[in-house]
Amino acid sequence: MLGAAGGVGSLAVQIARSRGARVIGTVSPRDHGYLRTLGAEPVTYGHGAAGHVRELAPDGVDAVLDTVGGALLAATAHAAAPGARVASLADIGAPGVTPVFCRMDRADLTALAGLAETGELHVRIGATYPLERAADAQRALAAGGTPGKIVITVG
Ligand SMILES: NC(=O)c1ccc[n+]([C@@H]2O[C@H](COP(=O)([O-])OP(=O)(O)OC[C@H]3O[C@@H](n4cnc5c(N)ncnc54)[C@H](OP(=O)(O)O)[C@@H]3O)[C@@H](O)[C@H]2O)c1
Repeated sequence: MLGAAGGVGSLAVQIARSRGARVIGTVSPRDHGYLRTLGAEPVTYGHGAAGHVRELAPDGVDAVLDTVGGALLAATAHAAAPGARVASLADIGAPGVTPVFCRMDRADLTALAGLAETGELHVRIGATYPLERAADAQRALAAGGTPGKIVITVG
């Protein structure tokens, strides 16, 4: 999982874990502990990341889900087993990559609600703002760097 601690990645990690998959995720050093709480194995992204994934999975990984794109996605060829499925929702035009477009129907939402109820799915909240400070929330979102979702509260 590339971008495993992000908004999409962290949910995808938890769904994969709930289905019994072993998950290795690329994250920044600050998110190693967080990823472990999700039951996944962290690898720091950047130079050499694909090699570190190979150390954890010597035969290569069976599937890659990318939420980052660019050089990190290109490097996954070194970490993937022959015939591995590679999908991306960030670099949807990359050659040899299955593009992913997130959409959910009623059955998907019901399944996710079920995982939330059993405690298998948590949404990471990075910051909370009252409605009067919605502009600050928007600025924080645009600036990036908040680990998790930004929530606006009313009342
Ligand atoms: N196709 C679709 O339907 C669809 C749907 C939703 C989102 N998206 C796209 O999917 C992407 C991810 O969305 P998101 O909401 O999950 O974003 P996000 O919450 O900002 O998460 C992005 C993650 O990528 C990590 N990251 C940043 N630079 C990286 C790098 N060079 N190498 C490895 N990891 C890196 C970040 O880690 P750090 O913060 O630690 O750097 C962060 O954890 C965005 O491009 C978004 O537009 C597509």
